[in-house]
Amino acid sequence: MEIDGKTRTCGLIGNPVEHTLSPIIHNTLAERFSHNLVYVPFLVESGKIGDAVKGAEALGILGLNVTVPYKSEVIPWLKEVDPLAEAIGAVNTLVSVQGGFKGCNTDMTGLYRAMESEGIRIEGEEIILLGAGGASRAVAYLCAVKGAKRIYLLNRTLDKAQKVAGEVNGRTGREVVMPMRLEEYGKLPEGKYLAIQGTSVGLAPHADEAVIEDKAFYGNIHTGFDLIYSPWETKFMRLVRESGAEAYNGLKMLLYQGVIAYELWNGVQVSGEDAKEVYEKLKRYFV
Ligand code: ATR
Repeated sequence: MEIDGKTRTCGLIGNPVEHTLSPIIHNTLAERFSHNLVYVPFLVESGKIGDAVKGAEALGILGLNVTVPYKSEVIPWLKEVDPLAEAIGAVNTLVSVQGGFKGCNTDMTGLYRAMESEGIRIEGEEIILLGAGGASRAVAYLCAVKGAKRIYLLNRTLDKAQKVAGEVNGRTGREVVMPMRLEEYGKLPEGKYLAIQGTSVGLAPHADEAVIEDKAFYGNIHTGFDLIYSPWETKFMRLVRESGAEAYNGLKMLLYQGVIAYELWNGVQVSGEDAKEVYEKLKRYFV
């Protein structure tokens, strides 16, 4: 693209940022929309997140994504926070508003849109959610809000699962999340579950690990969704497929969190065709 005096800037703040795929998403969309916009990574050193937000405002940055380790730390520096991000306690997108930035969470709306695009339903479903870290906490909230019938939240450390269950059940006003110890998966009621893998187990370079290795567990799953996308097929996904069920990785979640951020910054609607073009570009990094 040609950078000139009218070029607007968007970017990513985090630490580290050098492996990000977000520039591919946003710069491809800018090209397709013929927007005079460039998206760049900004490495923010520890303790500098407030300065980064103030600096971005002073520079008239159009929008920012926020990644590890600042998704919660950034919140006190924002002018406003949208209710979903507030409930999750994490922000991944800053949208420029009068007097500062508004914090949003497109990771979760992105996951929902990714699931919709694959025809995966949450409403009325019995869900097994593996993990109770930051990512799983947000997924538990999303599934509860979107009408899951029951969410079995399995985690190695039970108190973390109990804490997340208490928070989500409290916020949604229904006892929908049931915390369990990871090794108690054999006690799950017979059924057919949507299983969402939200632990860090199986991430490259530990691609030969799955958080539950027992094949019997996978017989109860009709669909598996791993939030991980590197490796392209995690061991969790392989075990799901070997049991005859459908499995998906997290790349469409990455895609749609970016697509939704782009829509918020530019006031446009990204078509399925444009999203597909970006997805194909992203996919080339993995297969
Ligand atoms: P994120 O923000 O990406 O969710 P996190 O908050 O560090 O990352 O959470 C990591 C999740 O992976 C947790 O649920 C963690 O379980 P604990 O709460 O018991 O720590 C889970 N996890 C990480 N390594 C694991 C392992 N070897 N076996 C089982 N669970 C593991």
